[in-house]
Amino acid sequence: MIGETILKLDKVTKVYPNGTVANRDINMEFEKGEIHSIVGENGAGKSTLMKMIFGIESPSSGTITYKGQEVHFQSSLDAIKAGIGMVHQHFMLINSFSIVDNIILGDEPTKGAFIDRKEAVRITQEVSDKYNFELDVTAKVSSLSVAKKQKVEILKTLYRNAELIILDEPTSVLTPQETEKLFVQLRQFKEQGHTILFISHKLEEVKAISDRISVIRNGVSKGTYRNDELTMEQLTNLIIGRDLESNLDQYKTHEDFNNEKALIVNNLKMERNGKPALNDISFAVKKGEILGIAGVEGNGQLDLIRCITGLEKTKYDGKITICGTDATAMNIKNRRDLGMAYIPEDRMGDGIAGSLPISDNMISTYYTRDDINKGMLWTTRPLTRCPMN
Ligand SMILES: Nc1ncnc2c1ncn2[C@@H]1O[C@H](COP(=O)(O)OP(=O)(O)OP(=O)(O)O)[C@@H](O)[C@H]1O
Ligand SMILES: [Mg+2]
Repeated sequence: MIGETILKLDKVTKVYPNGTVANRDINMEFEKGEIHSIVGENGAGKSTLMKMIFGIESPSSGTITYKGQEVHFQSSLDAIKAGIGMVHQHFMLINSFSIVDNIILGDEPTKGAFIDRKEAVRITQEVSDKYNFELDVTAKVSSLSVAKKQKVEILKTLYRNAELIILDEPTSVLTPQETEKLFVQLRQFKEQGHTILFISHKLEEVKAISDRISVIRNGVSKGTYRNDELTMEQLTNLIIGRDLESNLDQYKTHEDFNNEKALIVNNLKMERNGKPALNDISFAVKKGEILGIAGVEGNGQLDLIRCITGLEKTKYDGKITICGTDATAMNIKNRRDLGMAYIPEDRMGDGIAGSLPISDNMISTYYTRDDINKGMLWTTRPLTRCPMN
């Protein structure tokens, strides 16, 4: 079945109103029945391209041709009608609704003027069983695991007869076992003629699942390749545009800092809603050391980070020492003054104040400093240099 073009992008360019050129002259072709990955660094322009295909954004110039017809989707509803589905990284489900009610929302089977719920359950369960989703469609979404919620999102696209399904970072919320199960299903969809556009940062997964791979760098396409004609090293080089730094000897390590400890966490314990959220966590990080914390989303990583940074308002037991000083009772600002900084997962939501100017964001950590603080009026404007210097 592979070989027939289902979607074609011709010189697609997207310039956001603030002047950011997210995509520039992108030419890409997607074939019916293939699993086609789109890879690129953070901010390369992958999601923007997918949003244009799904009708959430419209191109500034260029054309999108779907099944031989040039399309100008005004919204995702147009894309859904045409047979395109998208599963966003952050699910769009209503937790208090059942699976079936989430799935039929906006496209309900009716009997006269009323929703035919019995028919809705029948059709939804039928689609679920056909693709081995192992879901009871009458269950409440709030009772489901993250992997099952994702299944509901995928099921929603199939219920609407999506032929082309876009998955934006679908594996970031899954365990390796769940990812393997998802891949079995994606291969099944492919065998039934669906086309999958798969976005991921995990290149091993991209290599494992893709028929073809397209690379985007700085909003520009760096070509489409057959999976079997690319090594992992070539793929990495295409994504970052240079050889990956392999000489690590030039960097300092913790031994260069006499194994001094930058952070010590002792016996951290916290409960949330009567259940243990953190259960006696202890570790230390040396200066010059990188510590990785592994785990599937929702297993306490965020609670741990919130306790270390001072963002957590729930009372917790244990001790946090930052650069030799007991910081347990300190607020965020004092912890920052000890040398702690935090780049959150949700950069737009927690990392910056999007409605304020860059200068206000820049001084938000330094506003008490003498050269910035002018008595009652905290900031001098306009700020012309970086306050960190
Ligand atoms: N609504 C918007 N307005 C202005 N600029 C935007 C908007 N959305 C995205 N951008 C910018 O467009 C560029 C491409 O962003 P996009 O989200 O498409 O990248 P991405 O490859 O999906 O990145 P990631 O891997 O982090 O998800 C980035 O510079 C981003 O900051
Ligand atoms: Mg993205």
